[in-house]
Amino acid sequence: MKVLVTGGAGYIGSVTAELLLRAGHKVVIVDNLAKGHRSAVPGEAKFYQEDVRNEGPIAAILKEQQIDCVMHFSASSLVGESMKDPGEYFGNNVIGVARLLETMARCNVRKFIFSSSAATYGEPATVPIREVSLVAPTNPYGESKAICERMLRWYQSIHRVHFAALRYFNAAGASYERGEDHDPETHLIPLALRAVTGELKELAIFGTDYPTTDGTCVRDYIHVEDLAKAHILALLKLGSLTDNVFNLGNGSGYSVREVVASVERVTDRKVPVKDAPRRPGDPAILVASSELAKHCLGWEPEKPGLDEIVSDAWSWKQRFPNGYGD
Ligand code: UFG
Repeated sequence: MKVLVTGGAGYIGSVTAELLLRAGHKVVIVDNLAKGHRSAVPGEAKFYQEDVRNEGPIAAILKEQQIDCVMHFSASSLVGESMKDPGEYFGNNVIGVARLLETMARCNVRKFIFSSSAATYGEPATVPIREVSLVAPTNPYGESKAICERMLRWYQSIHRVHFAALRYFNAAGASYERGEDHDPETHLIPLALRAVTGELKELAIFGTDYPTTDGTCVRDYIHVEDLAKAHILALLKLGSLTDNVFNLGNGSGYSVREVVASVERVTDRKVPVKDAPRRPGDPAILVASSELAKHCLGWEPEKPGLDEIVSDAWSWKQRFPNGYGD
């Protein structure tokens, strides 16, 4: 199939583009390069530097390239940032999806795979979280994703744009060639690796008084290649799915301190840490039940262990010490 990957110069988008190509699909990438890296774009993919909110150019690409499916990764995705600048999240994420869906419907492109998030759940009443759990985000980022999911249902029923919304838990790790390079970096595993190499003096542990076993937040880390594979499985099933929303996680929760311990095991070095106040908007525990994705998509994570996820992130960092270098 021919897939338009928006945000294909970013972390999860570029790894998915790489795996799509490896699976024999054709890939067209649209990225405005506000956050993405031109050198993350696979050489075999056709690239357009464009913003998904620009309906005219996107319509021209959809038609010219005869796109079968859009995988939409381009979004602002930081919980902490969204608590300071909600306008960025509603403007970029919600308006981006609204314009893209309208353009797709007009151009007769009727398959859409959406990067949603565990942040839609907010503070869950029970863990592991199932897709039927209450959607009650605790930050504008999660809210923006929840609004997009609701829009998708209307575009499916009115314009027959079939969709899968994949609620990622904490993406981590790297493929051999592509990894995590954000500016500024705010994610736990890359920052812990920077603390190991001395690029960061100390890793701040945001909150030590959460209702968890060691007081730090618990998250479900999922290998970026396993996330990418779920998109390819969903692509093949779009149109025949009876469910549309799927959690993607490993079903195991690790506290911030447990992640630090994993980084120390993998690198065989100490992570200097300091305790710090809670980061606004952070839920205490997010752990997925991914039974639905396993059952409906035939998805099975191939690298579920935290140490193997950290190990791939560490290998990539050693190969690309300055990230993409731009
Ligand atoms: N953390 C620290 N110190 C840091 C960075 C992070 O203690 O320097 C903590 C955070 O407070 C959080 C955990 O480590 O408890 C993980 O934080 P990340 O920033 O790595 O990831 P988030 O859980 O905030 O968010 C990520 C994605 C979101 C997605 C969410 C789903 O960035 O897009 O996972 O669980 F919604």
